[in-house]
Amino acid sequence: MKKGICWKGGLGILTLGMALAISGVALAETPEHEFVGVQKCALCHKKPEQGEQVKIWQETAHAKAFEVLATPAAKETAAKLGIDDPQKSGKCLKCHSTAYYFTEQQLTQAIQPEEGISCESCHGPGKDFMKKSVMEDKDAAKAAGLIIPDESTCKKCHNPESPNYKDFDYKTNWEKIKHPVPEK
Ligand code: HEC
Ligand code: HEC
Ligand code: HEC
Ligand code: HEC
Repeated sequence: MKKGICWKGGLGILTLGMALAISGVALAETPEHEFVGVQKCALCHKKPEQGEQVKIWQETAHAKAFEVLATPAAKETAAKLGIDDPQKSGKCLKCHSTAYYFTEQQLTQAIQPEEGISCESCHGPGKDFMKKSVMEDKDAAKAAGLIIPDESTCKKCHNPESPNYKDFDYKTNWEKIKHPVPEK
């Protein structure tokens, strides 16, 4: 009898393990690291000696990617696809916000869709790499989730799935949004 109970306990653990493994598969789209939002990056990256990346970003179309979904043009595009409010639709927000991070659902509460396309859409969720000691060591930062983006990152959104797709030339587009660290 005792043995029977033990065996059942063992089965229970086995079943739990399998359930976790299955939910792990279902959650495959959830990033491994947590998001923090642009205000956290701004603690350091608004400084002139760091290159004022936040100020440069604020002047790009990416910072207004949520607002643009409220324009008559956006509503017209959406209406053709049977979407009532583009600012509430995952079908638009997947490419127009970091909060949705390439999916049709909001993946984090640390960032709201209003933030548009911010640092972490391109550089990855930042909670584990944003510490000063980690940031100063590029390899450590990459190990903690920092993405060094390239043309393929842009093409996750700048592709024909976009209802407003225009040919995308990496070099000319990068020139419009580049945000270098100044030479020391
Ligand atoms: C505590 C300060 C601090 C915070 C917060 C911070 N960074 Fe950094 N970051 C740095 C420093 C310092 C460097 C090294 C750059 C330099 O000055 O040479 C750096 C470098 C980088 C680089 C360049 C990596 C490379 O070597 O090519 C990227 C990209 C970056 N940060 C993105 C971010 C993002 C995105 C966030 C927010 C999620 C963030 N940082 C938050 C301090 C910070
Ligand atoms: C696959 C990613 C993606 C999806 C999905 C997407 N967009 Fe966009 N959207 C973009 C990109 C990238 C641009 C910038 C224009 C370009 O170069 O393609 C853009 C630009 C726009 C613009 C600015 C107009 C212009 O011509 O620049 C509007 C308005 C817009 N999108 C509305 C929407 C609406 C409404 C939806 C949902 C029905 C949507 N988008 C879904 C990626 C996307
Ligand atoms: C998460 C999706 C996403 C990613 C990743 C992304 N973009 Fe965009 N991009 C957009 C959307 C959406 C717009 C339009 C926003 C608007 O009109 O307000 C846009 C607009 C732009 C514009 C302005 C277009 C114009 O005609 O003025 C430039 C330039 C640009 N992106 C460059 C880039 C580059 C370079 C990369 C890669 C390093 C990149 N983008 C990555 C979604 C994205
Ligand atoms: C649309 C995509 C995109 C967004 C949004 C974006 N970056 Fe970048 N970032 C890039 C790319 C591409 C590079 C160049 C990577 C390389 O080749 O070294 C880069 C480089 C950097 C560098 C290193 C610059 C250098 O001179 O080495 C820093 C620091 C940085 N980004 C910080 C940020 C911060 C902070 C934000 C948000 C305010 C941000 N980025 C938003 C795409 C992006």
